[in-house]
Amino acid sequence: MKSTATLGTPLSPSATKVMLLGSGELGKEVIISLQRLGIEVIAVDRYANAPGHQVAHRSYVIDMTDGTALAALIEEEQPDLVVPEIEAIATPTLVELENAGKVRVIPTARATWLTMNREGIRRLAAETLGLATSPYRFADSLEELRTACSEIGFPCVVKPVMSSSGKGQSKLDSATDIATAWDYAAAGGRVNAGRVIVEGFIDFDYEITQLTVRAIGKDGAIETHFCEPIGHVQVQGDYVESWQPQAMHPTALTRARDIAKKITDNLGGLGLFGVELFVKNEMVWFSEVSPRPHDTGMVTMASQAQNEFELHAKAILGLPVDTSLLSPAASAVIYGQHDAKGIAFKGVAEALQVPGTDIRLFGKPESFVRRRMGVALAKAVDTDTARILAKAAAAKVTPVIIEAK
Ligand SMILES: Nc1ncnc2c1ncn2[C@@H]1O[C@H](COP(=O)(O)OP(=O)(O)OP(=O)(O)O)[C@@H](O)[C@H]1O
Ligand SMILES: [Mg+2]
Repeated sequence: MKSTATLGTPLSPSATKVMLLGSGELGKEVIISLQRLGIEVIAVDRYANAPGHQVAHRSYVIDMTDGTALAALIEEEQPDLVVPEIEAIATPTLVELENAGKVRVIPTARATWLTMNREGIRRLAAETLGLATSPYRFADSLEELRTACSEIGFPCVVKPVMSSSGKGQSKLDSATDIATAWDYAAAGGRVNAGRVIVEGFIDFDYEITQLTVRAIGKDGAIETHFCEPIGHVQVQGDYVESWQPQAMHPTALTRARDIAKKITDNLGGLGLFGVELFVKNEMVWFSEVSPRPHDTGMVTMASQAQNEFELHAKAILGLPVDTSLLSPAASAVIYGQHDAKGIAFKGVAEALQVPGTDIRLFGKPESFVRRRMGVALAKAVDTDTARILAKAAAAKVTPVIIEAK
């Protein structure tokens, strides 16, 4: 396989080619970072004109859960690296192609396969690595779910084993909630609709994303770098605001990084990971990990010398990284507020009047009421101020429906 340590010229025989599987707002920023290094970028998504399609050299629309279609596209394009940006991919196909030496998957095909299923990553973290997690059980039927819930106790959280962004997830306060949670999980899961995880509810003080980067150091060995912890607020399993740094008890921070190191060492490869952790006083629980940039990490576009997307781009190419924080900052999500195609955004100028702020609009062709369409960023002297400013800026951006001309 061609090394990526030497970077080529795009659209020429020397090109270093990277294929993004999933081209949403996170993929778009990874692509922009790769473009700045002269990488030839191929953006793939399941719908046309996805955010990343708009900034890549070539774009494709395929069903990425279809292993045959995915393998055919990789065969046709011959990328040096395949970079999954989402979970809903035919990861067994990536494992096969990587084992056959046909492609390098970021960070590894095994990592993308393990993390797309809550069962795979939970068993690895808790049973193989012995990391602290919430107590958990798995269930394949309503009856099994009743047994699992009575073993775990209430409150507990039920989630489809394959889902993201809080889809199909519910918190149960008593046994009367079980049947509803089962139906909701079945409707919200991606595939394997029948299987759920039941987790004991962790009454955390706060939750963080510990961005962790595996990159090649001076001596050619892989080094682990940590960003400052990111605090965030989730509503119905979807992030609404984040800030960096999150102040932490030194023992909790050490534990968080110890967990992040253990899980990322095991997943291996190069790149940035988002390790999600729950914290109460000095106690830390592992929740889950994304082997790729994390939505709550969008705050790093304001806070860090190199944002999480640049860190990912550099690390996967075998380049050194700098995870230093420049300023406390915060991010606040801008939702679509309408179910419509081709919406417009009023109030961007007013939003940018808020001191220390910046705005990203993702360019998604279709809006939904609760779809993330943009993000407001704010730098300030501390994270409390940054959060106020980011939310103020986000609130000034008003999505509107434009009537056809
Ligand atoms: N066991 C738990 N105890 C307490 N809160 C929980 C628990 N599990 C999940 N949550 C809350 O729900 C949020 C979403 O859960 P989780 O990260 O497992 O779902 P997800 O669908 O993968 O979300 P995303 O894709 O946005 O990361 C968590 O960030 C946390 O706020
Ligand atoms: Mg999560």
